[in-house]
Amino acid sequence: MEGMFFQWYHKVLHRVIMVGLIAFLVGASTLSACKKNNDDNPSSTDSTVVLTPYEIIAPAHFPILEIPNDNKPTVERIKLGRMLYYDTLLSNDGRACAGCHLQSKGFATDLLYQGVPVLPHENLAWNSNFMWEASKQGTLEDVMLFEVQTFFATNLEKVNQNTTYRQLVKKYFGVNKITYKELSYSLAQFVRTLISRDTKYDRFIRGEAALNYDELQGRNLFFSERGDCFHCHINPVMTDNQLHNIGLDSLYTKVLDKGYFNLSGKVSDLGKFRTPNLRNVALRKYLMHDGRYSSLEEVVEFYNSGVHKVFNVDPIMTKPGKENGLNLTAQEKKQIVSFLQTLTDYTMLADTALSAPY
Ligand code: HEC
Ligand code: HEC
Repeated sequence: MEGMFFQWYHKVLHRVIMVGLIAFLVGASTLSACKKNNDDNPSSTDSTVVLTPYEIIAPAHFPILEIPNDNKPTVERIKLGRMLYYDTLLSNDGRACAGCHLQSKGFATDLLYQGVPVLPHENLAWNSNFMWEASKQGTLEDVMLFEVQTFFATNLEKVNQNTTYRQLVKKYFGVNKITYKELSYSLAQFVRTLISRDTKYDRFIRGEAALNYDELQGRNLFFSERGDCFHCHINPVMTDNQLHNIGLDSLYTKVLDKGYFNLSGKVSDLGKFRTPNLRNVALRKYLMHDGRYSSLEEVVEFYNSGVHKVFNVDPIMTKPGKENGLNLTAQEKKQIVSFLQTLTDYTMLADTALSAPY
């Protein structure tokens, strides 16, 4: 600001030389007012508007959130991202992101797409590995670029014909032509606000709600060495965001089941998938990377007795004490399911700030 002040001051000085002392006095008297104006409106000289910073308030028990410097959250870009998320204009087949990522399902859906369950959008701001196979890595901006450029193959000409979007992009990004960058940056901003923080379990952690007996026992099992879920489904985001082979298969007959191997080509990566986050998991109809299970009971039974001890199974799955499975009683299995059901976030599912903007 001091630099701007001096530039301004020099301009004033030139004027002084041209029109004399009186003009200088007038200029000097408005000096403080102009300086203030410049503070509030640093980019008033170009066509962008001043964006309103938006603070993403990470829940107290969440890890620190890292956001790229060139896409700090602003009210305007989040709003634009929200419009795009719900707009069928981005695709060539009448679909919007929200067509598969439904708020009522934790921004996932009951459908399989090409044999794969749709992944939910919740707390992705804390992610750096995306997709079941972790086929996309990096920031939300990076994965959104893939979504519009490759997955949707968004027709930029069509988007540029939309006057509303052209004007908004001009205002919020200062460019005349919309490219994949502005689309992905805006979408990333909106998706970063899809935060689940108010499940019954979060409230329990904050001391605002009690868990019933079964939920509490289930929680204790989940976080104990016995149930041993927490090493990968780490609280509070409920994923460690890492790749593991949990022993779902002994043979990999389908390409889909080969996991990260499909990207790395390394045999040691066979069957490895990124740990899914378990928030709103009770709303999902298809579980695991190929939707092979359709109830939480089946999943728990898999962990209890179905783990295949393949050569690269995660050591956590077969550590001492687990050689013959978890040996959970029927009641304990039920209790783990009860705990998983406390991870549904009804506040998020009903949050009108996240719903369709029109
Ligand atoms: C036709 C249904 C469909 C549409 C439409 C769709 N997605 Fe998805 N999305 C999926 C499926 C299926 C997956 C999981 C794919 C995988 O892991 O291989 C997914 C995964 C994702 C992920 C990764 C989430 C994670 O946990 O790693 C992101 C991010 C994402 N989609 C964003 C978007 C955006 C942004 C749009 C709109 C531009 C969009 N999706 C439109 C079906 C869809
Ligand atoms: C070694 C890491 C690890 C441990 C330990 C672990 N999980 Fe998982 N979990 C994963 C991975 C990875 C997947 C995805 C596997 C796939 O789709 O092939 C998964 C998937 C799931 C799913 C399906 C989620 C969805 O969206 O489809 C549920 C539910 C689940 N785990 C619950 C549990 C419970 C309960 C325990 C403890 C009994 C547990 N997990 C222990 C890593 C782990």
